[in-house]
Amino acid sequence: MQVTIVRDKDEMGKVGAALIAEQMRAKPHFVLGLATGSTPLPLYQELIRMNKAGELDFSTTITFNLDEYVGVPPTHDQSYRSFMNVNLFDHINIVKAATHVPDGMAANPEAFCEAYECMMDDVGGVDYQVLGIGSNGHIAFNEPGSSLASRTRVVKLTQTTIKDNSRFFARVEDVPTRAMSMGIGTVLEAERIVILAHGANKADAVAAALEGPVTVSVPASALQLHPSVHWVIAEDAATKLKLEWGR
Ligand code: PGA
Repeated sequence: MQVTIVRDKDEMGKVGAALIAEQMRAKPHFVLGLATGSTPLPLYQELIRMNKAGELDFSTTITFNLDEYVGVPPTHDQSYRSFMNVNLFDHINIVKAATHVPDGMAANPEAFCEAYECMMDDVGGVDYQVLGIGSNGHIAFNEPGSSLASRTRVVKLTQTTIKDNSRFFARVEDVPTRAMSMGIGTVLEAERIVILAHGANKADAVAAALEGPVTVSVPASALQLHPSVHWVIAEDAATKLKLEWGR
C-alpha cells in the first residue's frame, strides 16, 4: 500500500491524475473505473487540463462508473450520469458510447447489475479504479456491513449517506434510498486502485481504513488486501493517522 500525503485537494487531484496518466499512456483501450462525489473533482479538472493541453488522450479509453441511484433517470441533474458528463466526459475527447454508468432506470436492476459485471469482464476488467471514501468508511455505495466479497448489486443507502448527500437535493426526502453499486469484491479486482481523500470529516474514516483491522464496519479497510493501492490524502484528512505514512 502506498500513501502520499499532500497539501490540499488541488495537489491531491494533480498527484492522482499523474498516477493515472502514466498508466493510461502505456496501454491503449485503457479501462478506467470512475467515481462521483466532491472528492474526485480536482482529479477530473486536472485530467481535463491534460487532455486540452494534448498531454493525455482519451479517444480509446473505456470507463465504468462505480454506482448510480436507482429510480433517477440519466437526464436528472443529480444522476451520476449527469455528474460525469458535466464534470468530465463533456470536456475530453472520449467516445460517449465507451463510458458506462449503471442505468438507474433499468427495468430489472438486479439483472442489470449482473450484466454490468459481464460488460467489465468483456473488456478485460478495470485497469485503474478511482475511489473516494465516505465519512462512514464506505467505498462506492458499499456501506458498513457490506460483504468484503460483494459484487455489483442493488443496495440500500444508510441514513449517514442520505444525510451526506442531501446537500445536493432540495430536501432530504428527495435523496434516493437505493442505488446500484459495484461490490467490494468487484472493486478489489481492478488491476490498480487510487483512493483520494480530503476534508477533516474524512480523517476518522481514513485512519480506520488504513490503520485499523480489515472489517465490514469500515468497507475501505478491505483495500488493505489489494496488492496495488495508492492513497492520496490531503493533510486535513490525514490528521488522525498514527503511522509514518509517506511523511
Ligand atoms: P464525497 O463522497 O466525495 O462527496 O465526500 C465520497 C464518497 O462518498 O465516496
